[in-house]
Amino acid sequence: MKLIEVANYEEMSQKAADIIISQVKKKPDSVLGLATGSTMLGTYQQLVQDHQQNGTSYRNVRTVNLDEYIGLSLDHPNSYRYYMNQHLFFHIDIPLSQTYIPNGASDDVEAECKRYEQLIENLGGIDLQILGIGRNGHIGFNEPGTSFSAPTHVVELAPSTRQANARFFPSLEDVPRQAITMGIATIMKSRHIVLLASGTAKAPIMVKLFEGTVTADVPASVLHTHPNVTVIADEEALSLVA
Ligand code: F6R
Repeated sequence: MKLIEVANYEEMSQKAADIIISQVKKKPDSVLGLATGSTMLGTYQQLVQDHQQNGTSYRNVRTVNLDEYIGLSLDHPNSYRYYMNQHLFFHIDIPLSQTYIPNGASDDVEAECKRYEQLIENLGGIDLQILGIGRNGHIGFNEPGTSFSAPTHVVELAPSTRQANARFFPSLEDVPRQAITMGIATIMKSRHIVLLASGTAKAPIMVKLFEGTVTADVPASVLHTHPNVTVIADEEALSLVA
C-alpha cells in the first residue's frame, strides 16, 4: 500500500484528479470505478475544471459506481445517480449511457446485484477504482463484518453510516436502510485502487487501517492484500497515525 501524504483536502483532490486524468489519457476507454460522498466532491470539481480548461475527453470512458441506496428514484436529489450527474457527468463529455450505477429502484434488487456484477465483468473489469472510507472502515457500503468474498449485494446500512449520511436528508428517518454495493471481492478485482481520506473525522479509522491487521472488522484493511493500492490522505486524517 503506497501512502501519499498531503496537506489538505484541496491537495488530496488535486492528486486524485491527476491520477484519474493520467489513467484516461493512457487508456481513453478506461473503466473507472467511482464513489460519492463529501470526500469526492473536490476531485470531481478538479476533473470538471480540467475538462473545461484542457479538454481531457471522457467520450470513450465507462464508469461504474460503487453503490446506490435502495428505494430512492433515480432522479431523487439524494440518489447517487443524481449526485454523479450533478457533480460530474453533466459537466464532462461522457455519454450518460456509458455511466453505470446500481439501480436501487429495481423491483428485484437481488437480480439487479447479479446484473451489475456481470456488467462489470462484461466491461472487462475496473482499471481504476476510487474509494472513500467510512468512519467505521467501510468501503463502498461494505460494513464491518462483511465477507471479503462477497460480490455485489444488498446491505443493511449500519446505524452509524445512516447517522453520518443524515446530513443530506431532511431527517434520520428519511435515510434509506438498505443499499446495493459492489462487494469487497468486486472492488478487489480492480487493477488499481486509490483510497482518499480527509479530515479529523477519519483520523481514528486511519489508525486502525495503518495498524496493518487484515480483519473483516475494518473492511478497508483488505486493501493490504491488494498489489496496487494508493492511499492519499491529508494531515488531519493522518493526525493520530504514529
Ligand atoms: C460512497 C461510498 C462510501 C463513502 C464513505 C465516505 O459511494 O461508497 O464508502 O466513500 O462513506 O463518505 P464521505 O466521503 O462522505 O466521508
